[in-house]
Amino acid sequence: MITALMMRLMIKGSGSAPGKVILFGEHAVVYGRPALAIPVAVVRAEAKVEHALQGSGLTIWAKDLGEEVTLASAPADHPLAVAARLALKRLGMQGVPDWRLTVHSTIPVASGLGSGAAVSAAIVRALAAAAGAELVPAEVSDIVYQVDRLHHGNPSGIDNTVIAYEEPVYFVRSRPPQRFAIGRQFWLAIADTGVRSPTKITVGDVRRQWEQDPRRLEACFDRIAGIVETARAAIASGAPSRLGPLMDENHELLSELGVSSPELDRLASEARRAGAGGAKLSGGGRGGNLIALVSPETAETVTDRLLACGAAGVIVTPVGVPQGEM
Ligand code: PMV
Repeated sequence: MITALMMRLMIKGSGSAPGKVILFGEHAVVYGRPALAIPVAVVRAEAKVEHALQGSGLTIWAKDLGEEVTLASAPADHPLAVAARLALKRLGMQGVPDWRLTVHSTIPVASGLGSGAAVSAAIVRALAAAAGAELVPAEVSDIVYQVDRLHHGNPSGIDNTVIAYEEPVYFVRSRPPQRFAIGRQFWLAIADTGVRSPTKITVGDVRRQWEQDPRRLEACFDRIAGIVETARAAIASGAPSRLGPLMDENHELLSELGVSSPELDRLASEARRAGAGGAKLSGGGRGGNLIALVSPETAETVTDRLLACGAAGVIVTPVGVPQGEM
């Protein structure tokens, strides 16, 4: 009989990573403009490593997908296996250990909350813990980026960065990330449209437009970059109420890029009507999530309206910690 104590002893290591949302700057960030993103800790990916039978190698059990992958036989581009292989290599492990890795995530898939990147980061951290090592955020971020590249083609690197550092990030491609200051706490309602929209498709569509009309697209990216800088200053100076109109403006520009959708537009205008200070799509677009600026007073009304208008789920989260808790 396996007792609870024995089970605990069998666990060699665990790791986790949060979801994320992009506040401002998605798509333009692929073209070198800045973007702001924050971790969303209320949803997380978690991984744990247990001992397995001798000779069994490394198996990954993705609980939510009902999928089991064995490292030795997984396809070369299987994202979970790639994350594990890269982590074992980074950890300098000789051979493949006999471990069973279980992954579980509460982050909605393909909805702009960084589910894939968080699962990769949790795997990398759990394997490092099991190996008795610690990887710094830059190392975790680098591995997660390599996994993302397999599936997104040309990711900017913002997802892996904010998820690995677990901090609000002002991000410019190919530059070290900067933490951005939050002068005063504010609140977001994150509404899932329920429409799954792969980032690769919208990023590819924007790329085709850019190839056809680079001047128009570059001008649009410049305007988005201006919004990002203004928003950063508003957040730092403790004036989050100024973010609402900036979110609306950023949403409008993303619509011009063709990455909004009727569902996103409808949820955005309903959120505003219900009292949100502003709203925009977040992430790749055409589905996924909408973010709306709320307050403790408006959060419930906005949430109810979003759910009544077809949102598949709404998460309300504070951004930044109240004074005195840092
Ligand atoms: O869909 P998400 O949340 O992974 O966001 C992608 C953000 C883009 O700017 C559209 C693409 C990128 O690589 O930065």
